[in-house]
This record gives sequence, C-alpha cells and structure tokens, in this order.
Amino acid sequence: MQDDDPYVARASAPQALLEISGLTKAFGPHSVLKGVDLKIAPNAVHAVIGPNGAGKTTLVNVITGVHPPSGGTIAFAGEDVTDLAVHHRARRGLARTFQITNLFGDLNAQENVEVALAGTRRYRLARLDADVRARAGATTARDLLALVGLATAAQVKAEVLSHGDQRLLEVAVALACQPRLLLLDEPSAGMSPAETKAFIDLVNERLRGKVTIVLIEHDMAVVMGTADRICVLAGGAVLADGTPNEIMQNPFVREAYLGRA
Ligand SMILES: Nc1ncnc2c1ncn2[C@@H]1O[C@H](COP(=O)(O)OP(=O)(O)OP(=O)(O)O)[C@@H](O)[C@H]1O
Ligand SMILES: [Mg+2]
Repeated sequence: MQDDDPYVARASAPQALLEISGLTKAFGPHSVLKGVDLKIAPNAVHAVIGPNGAGKTTLVNVITGVHPPSGGTIAFAGEDVTDLAVHHRARRGLARTFQITNLFGDLNAQENVEVALAGTRRYRLARLDADVRARAGATTARDLLALVGLATAAQVKAEVLSHGDQRLLEVAVALACQPRLLLLDEPSAGMSPAETKAFIDLVNERLRGKVTIVLIEHDMAVVMGTADRICVLAGGAVLADGTPNEIMQNPFVREAYLGRA
C-alpha cells in the first residue's frame, strides 16, 4: 500500500543522471583522480572548477570512456557504464566538447554538423527505432546551427571561423548526437567578452532544461552566470560541491582557489 502513496514517491531523492563513486585514475605512478564522488542531477548545469592540473579534463576523459578508470564506478541513467567503450557511452547519450578544438577545419560549419548527424542517424536507423528515427530525422544541421547562433556562418569553413564561433560549432556538433548529458571542457577559453556573453545566453536561454550540462570552466563570470551547482576539484579530489552561494562562502574554497582567482 505504501508503494502506491504518491507522497512517498515524491519524498524520495530524485535519481542522478550521472553518479560517480570513488573514481580514481593514475597514469603510471602519477595519481590524478583520487576518489571522486559526484552526482549530476537531471537538467542541471553543474560546473566543475579548479586550478590547472586539478584533473578536470581527466575526469571528462574517464566519464566519456577515453581513459579507463583505475578504480570506482560511473553510473549513467541508472546503468553502470564504467567499462563501456566511448561509442557505447555516446549512444546512451554522453557527448562532449574538447579543450582543444576538434573540428574538420576544411569543411564548412554546416558540413561539420552534417557529419555528426549522419553518424547518429546511421546508428539509429540501424536499430529501426521509429520514435528515435523520427526525432533524428527532424533535426537538421541548420536547426542546430541556428540554436547555437551560427545560422549565418553555415557556409564558412570551420578553420576560418573565429575562435569563439569554433567553440559554438563544437557545441552544435555535440548536440547532433542528441545527448542527455553534454560535457563542455572550457568552452569559453579564448572567447572575446561578446562571445562569452553569447555563450552564457546560449546555455541559459536555449540549452538549460533540454540537456544536462557538466561545464568545466575557468571563467568565473560564466560559472556564476550559468551554474546551478559547482564542484571544486583540487589535486584530483572534490574539495567542495554545492550551490554557487555555498561555494562562494566556503572558506576552504576561498583559500584554495577563489582567493587566488
Ligand atoms: N594521458 C596522460 N598521461 C599522463 N599524465 C596525464 C595525462 N592526462 C593528464 N595527465 C596529468 O594529469 C594531471 C591533470 O591533468 P588535467 O588535464 O586533467 O588537468 P585540468 O584540471 O584539466 O587542467 P587545466 O585547467 O590546465 O585544463 C596533470 O598533471 C597532467 O599532466
Ligand atoms: Mg583541462
């Protein structure tokens, strides 16, 4: 009888979309992640900040399957994905952008997105999943370019786009996979102030609520302008995780990171 009680259902904690437990990563003798626990709630914009070398990119690489972890577990949408290959995680809805731009420079913006869409469709058509097929077919490269604010740059070669526009194009490419979780590794690095502002608007006005975001970021204006929660990574361990307010008030965070920023 208790199981049918709607109040009981509401009172239980919402399931995390991504749950990382005791994650460790060593490169030879060099221990880079030292037991990271982190929960990412559905539809959150969850920033991960921390000094250079803290292990932020390594965390993204281990979450997406580029590097196998040395220990610990990664659960995505309730499934243990710790040992899955990169492409199997991508098919389940994990997508990322790179700290170093990763586009086809001699293809134009639209072609870069079309390549990503084609790869996604090929897999989904093969599964003959009518519902997903309809959704994949309904999304065009032009829709995605418009979403990130690059509609007028569709025919421009990726290599001649401004640095900021290249980062936006990478977001469009990642969105072509229709991810449930998008990991962005320093998207605003190298952006002009105007491009940074446009990126904050993109997250707040067009991405929030549609896709869960893990945002690795050094620019505190971007972090404070977008994040619902902030995880502070220092020396491969979580120093603090909380709301922006909690993080700003945390004396350890202030001393270890924000005070020097
Ligand atoms: N493939 C690798 N092999 C060996 N060491 C690595 C490898 N990748 C990262 N490291 C080391 O792990 C540590 C953390 O690096 P990582 O790139 O994750 O830091 P980060 O927090 O992303 O830094 P940044 O803010 O500069 O991007 C560094 O000491 C780095 O040299
Ligand atoms: Mg990094």
